[in-house]
Amino acid sequence: MNQYPKNHETAAIILQAMKNRRSIRNYTGEPVPKEDLDLIVEAGLTSASGHAEYPWKIFVVQDMELIHKLVGVRQGAANMLNNAGAAIVVTADENISTWIEDCSIVLTNMHLLADAMGYGSCWIQGRCRDAADGGSADAFVRTLIDLPENFQLEAILAIGIPEKEKTADDAARQAKRAGFAKEKVTYL
Ligand SMILES: Cc1cc2nc3c(=O)[nH]c(=O)nc-3n(C[C@H](O)[C@H](O)[C@H](O)COP(=O)(O)O)c2cc1C
Repeated sequence: MNQYPKNHETAAIILQAMKNRRSIRNYTGEPVPKEDLDLIVEAGLTSASGHAEYPWKIFVVQDMELIHKLVGVRQGAANMLNNAGAAIVVTADENISTWIEDCSIVLTNMHLLADAMGYGSCWIQGRCRDAADGGSADAFVRTLIDLPENFQLEAILAIGIPEKEKTADDAARQAKRAGFAKEKVTYL
């Protein structure tokens, strides 16, 4: 789609940011400044929420030792935390029926804004996943972060200063996505 009937400049910028977004797993290890984390969290807090319940609790981890301990939340799939500059742990009250969707929107919005700000970030799945110690990812996070019993881990967003620029295959990747779109979308 190349046509934006209203507010087209804003729409074009947002769509471009979405197209540019990607999961980045290699970072320099430098910390992400608090003022930038505040903006990323703000993007998460703008999220839509079923019945406007906003059931989440978000833990912004800046302590490097704690970030490195969180690597154990998964067997291999969280290794990028070894060189991340921050980690944002997203949890929510499981008694709210839309908690999974709500948390997913929070993560998506933070991931997108972090990318648009020039940071690399990557979703680390926690819900329904096991930790490196064989227990659940949720139980593992509870050994490090004080979570109320009714709160569940959805995912962790690893964030860092990218080790290198986004690679030149982006155009090819975007073409691939456009190809997928034809197969995945039906207009009725
Ligand atoms: C629900 C969800 C769970 C994911 N879990 C992980 C994960 O645990 N570890 C990881 O390295 N990447 C994870 N990812 C990132 C995906 O691997 C990534 O989005 C996918 O490869 C497509 O690449 P892209 O984000 O650059 O478009 C996850 C992404 C989503 C949406």
